[in-house]
Amino acid sequence: MEHTAPMAARRMITAPLLHRESIGASYHVLTFDVPEGSDAQPGQFAMVRGAEWGDAPLLPRPMSYLTGGTTPSILIKVIGEGTLRMGRAEPGEPFTLLGPLGNTWRPPSRNRRPVLVAGGVGIAPLLYFAKQIAADGATPLSIYGGRSSRDLPLEDELSEISETHLTTEDGSRGTRGRVTDVLESLLDAGSEVYTCGPDRMMAAVAAICAKRDVPCQVSLETPMACGYGVCLGCPVPTTDGGYLYACMNGPCIDARLVDFSRSDHAPRKVATTAGGAK
Ligand SMILES: Cc1cc2nc3c(=O)[nH]c(=O)nc-3n(C[C@H](O)[C@H](O)[C@H](O)COP(=O)(O)OP(=O)(O)OC[C@H]3O[C@@H](n4cnc5c(N)ncnc54)[C@H](O)[C@@H]3O)c2cc1C
Ligand code: FES
Repeated sequence: MEHTAPMAARRMITAPLLHRESIGASYHVLTFDVPEGSDAQPGQFAMVRGAEWGDAPLLPRPMSYLTGGTTPSILIKVIGEGTLRMGRAEPGEPFTLLGPLGNTWRPPSRNRRPVLVAGGVGIAPLLYFAKQIAADGATPLSIYGGRSSRDLPLEDELSEISETHLTTEDGSRGTRGRVTDVLESLLDAGSEVYTCGPDRMMAAVAAICAKRDVPCQVSLETPMACGYGVCLGCPVPTTDGGYLYACMNGPCIDARLVDFSRSDHAPRKVATTAGGAK
């Protein structure tokens, strides 16, 4: 089982919200004040919860780091009670952050060009990774897709540091269609793909990469309760017929290990044109 070792031991901290930037109705970037610093690396995540939420929702929510350091941040899309409360949080509100958790993206190979494929909030761990790649002097190629232009909240930041191709299902920005509609034409034998987004999108990206014999790493967004291997609530079917645990063996993992056809969110047949926002 592939496993990139976490870079730092997890810690539970309580940190005040420094600021919340709303990007349209559904997306918010929450930045926390952590003077002692966070060692979180691209691909890792934190279990996040408002310290004053009371009983509901009880469990913290897994969120990828968008940045680390003394002002770690996350990008959230409001979909339920937890993200709704995060999207209404005000500066000064205390949050508990358990992290960094999970493994990092595999470092880019020297002889390959990283191709980052993001759907919806899957952009968070990939933008953090793109910044790391750019800081090392390379320019990644990125494909960023959503249902409409409203689902591409970090488009400008991504375009500053990568060669970026946008897709929207309604054609309101970039190419009309899904990320997979442009992926095939952008891949070559020297590509290596990193992808995060809805399961269906990652399944389709992985299928294209397998067909083209291009290495592909996916970042799993399986719902989680504990985030570090205690509850066994994040099983993901593997191609050898067994299961891995997304929080311990992932979230970043070689796509060839994951059996998307047995996952809850997978399409009955993995179509190579699937993709979009989550
Ligand atoms: C490692 C990891 C990193 C993540 N990073 C981010 C991130 O950077 N930004 C972000 O916005 N979200 C991210 N997520 C997803 C996020 O954790 C969920 O959206 C969040 O837990 C939803 O909480 P909620 O209380 O708002 O919704 P809930 O009330 O818990 O759920 C609302 C609905 O969404 C469904 N749902 C909940 N979680 C998921 C999921 N992971 N996949 C598919 N359906 C789900 C539920 O079944 C329910 O139908 C990540 C998940 C993981 C595992
Ligand atoms: S979330 Fe508890 S074991 Fe993975």
